[in-house]
Amino acid sequence: MVGIDIGTTAIKIVEISRWGQGKTLENYGEIKSMSLYKDSFRSIEKGNFLISDYFISRAIRAILNESRIKTKAAIFSVPDFSTFCVSFDLPPMTAKEVPQAVYYHASQYIPLPVTETTLDWRIIKGTPGDNQSPLKIFLVAVPNQIVQECQRVAEKSGLELYAIEAEALGITRALVKDKKKTICLIDIGAQSTTINIVDRGNLKKSYSFDFAGGQLTYAVSSILGLSTAEAEEIKNKQGLISSGENIAKTLYLLVDPLVFEVKKVLIDFFQREQKEVDEIYLTGGTANLPGLKEYFAEILKKKVEIPNCFSDFLYPPILEKDLQKIAPGFSVAVGAALGGLET
Ligand SMILES: Nc1ncnc2c1ncn2[C@@H]1O[C@H](COP(=O)(O)OP(=O)(O)OP(=O)(O)O)[C@@H](O)[C@H]1O
Ligand SMILES: [Mg+2]
Repeated sequence: MVGIDIGTTAIKIVEISRWGQGKTLENYGEIKSMSLYKDSFRSIEKGNFLISDYFISRAIRAILNESRIKTKAAIFSVPDFSTFCVSFDLPPMTAKEVPQAVYYHASQYIPLPVTETTLDWRIIKGTPGDNQSPLKIFLVAVPNQIVQECQRVAEKSGLELYAIEAEALGITRALVKDKKKTICLIDIGAQSTTINIVDRGNLKKSYSFDFAGGQLTYAVSSILGLSTAEAEEIKNKQGLISSGENIAKTLYLLVDPLVFEVKKVLIDFFQREQKEVDEIYLTGGTANLPGLKEYFAEILKKKVEIPNCFSDFLYPPILEKDLQKIAPGFSVAVGAALGGLET
């Protein structure tokens, strides 16, 4: 299975396979938008997901060639802002009745006509067929327009669109292995951040906002009068533990609102469910910002980890160091591909 993450600054692709209980990382590759195309690969504006299918399919083809990826079946990950996720309750019913009930209820929860969306859902609580057991449904709706965009890109890239998946679901699958804990899973990319609450393996809530690594780079380049590339390097190397006082100070000023948002999400979750989050996971390229993990732990008084999405895979040991470094950026692609191995 191939998993594709079209991020703002980069496209990442992984090819994975399954053998019995095990999984192999066959190939992986990445291309940065800057090296091909001055603009970003996708936009934050709702309803306009991919900027140019010409550039994107060219980039995908380049990665597939360079990484020698032969598999055609691909799962495309789409950003959370282009999908609608809700959970709702259904009365006890049989497995056969569930699809129609979900379809019927969906129209009350999603802001688009059901006929213009593609629905995907799963039962996250309760047992169908048990007449004592109400059901909780988690539903994802993807606008058909986005499905068509992905179909076009897949076709032009020589791939078959196997499925489409929301990023939040993918990273949950890729990173949350402990199904007993409540985890706050935060994906900090280049343009946006999502804060997700995953309770016993189920994605409960997902919030997005537009803080991310791009702003940090921009701030460093402004205060030091450096090019974006130079600022990027300094930011990635020194981050919050920079000895240049101005750099650290500026970065803290930008990171603090994120920490505040996370705090709010944790409090909100506690008030709704009377449950504490056990651990915080950071992922996305910006998770690697030096000092960020420690700062989160200090302020939020929680255990903070940067989980490695490749840790369950078999791969040549020589890759260990490289994979560890790039892992946070690949969680979305790995999660999407894993979805295809589940079925
Ligand atoms: N070592 C590092 N320290 C800090 N930031 C880093 C490091 N390595 C990469 N980044 C940042 O991570 C960001 C890219 O992350 P990622 O690949 O997750 O983004 P994306 O998926 O393209 O963006 P988005 O999800 O917002 O659309 C860039 O802003 C980059 O500067
Ligand atoms: Mg991303």
